[in-house]
Amino acid sequence: MSKPGKKRSLGSFLRETALTRRYAASRYPHALDYDWATIPHGRAEIVNLLLSADRGGRYLEIGCAANELFDAVAAKHKIGVDPARGGTHRLTSDQFFAANAELFDVVFIDGLHVYPQVRRDLVNALAAVRAGGWVALHDMLPRDWIEEHVPQISTRAWTGDGWKVAFELLGGRDLDFRIIAADHGIAVIKVLGEEPRLPDLSGELDSLRFRDFHRRFPELPVVDFPAGRAWIESHLA
Ligand SMILES: C[S@@+](CC[C@H](N)C(=O)[O-])C[C@H]1O[C@@H](n2cnc3c(N)ncnc32)[C@H](O)[C@@H]1O
Repeated sequence: MSKPGKKRSLGSFLRETALTRRYAASRYPHALDYDWATIPHGRAEIVNLLLSADRGGRYLEIGCAANELFDAVAAKHKIGVDPARGGTHRLTSDQFFAANAELFDVVFIDGLHVYPQVRRDLVNALAAVRAGGWVALHDMLPRDWIEEHVPQISTRAWTGDGWKVAFELLGGRDLDFRIIAADHGIAVIKVLGEEPRLPDLSGELDSLRFRDFHRRFPELPVVDFPAGRAWIESHLA
């Protein structure tokens, strides 16, 4: 993901302008006003907190890119899966999970940011994490229709529509979760039992757009970083 706040080239500005015009029918005037650059907490801090109860913990990251997070994670056993770069395994997440027999303490999902793939990654991760472990997902709080649009329009931050799984998590079994409002939104899921499950709401969620996310946003358990950290620590104790 390119970082918001970075200077963009004229080329990327023109590309985004052309794509924004092409998908003008999806335009939506309202936005969430998070300014991630002013919130001094991020995914590395959260993942290391999740791992802090498991010295020597087993960590899996889906989507590693330049290893910005992967290298910052303090786990003795780390597996990183990415078909293009970074991590330890040059595979897609589907290929990795099809062959995996290992159980992890913490799984971080940050691969292909489209709902069907994020949903598959989450279902597979829930099966690959031990009872009492954690799954986290990046980019769960799109701020406007451009950041969320599938296919990707934005040449800056792109969350895609992985947020849709949050509405399935609301009806999940053997799990609890919060969405921490930092670093583009990080959903943190505590696996409470042996058989965590998600309802399949894909029939209803597939066609939803940013305007639906914005309208239904108050239903989600979004917390600020201090409240998210307190919630995580209450489960670590
Ligand atoms: C946003 S980057 C990951 C950033 C990284 N987690 C970090 O925090 O530093 C997304 C990565 O997902 C990878 N990716 C795309 N499709 C994937 C898939 N099907 N399975 C696993 N990774 C995928 C891309 O190659 C890209 O490197």
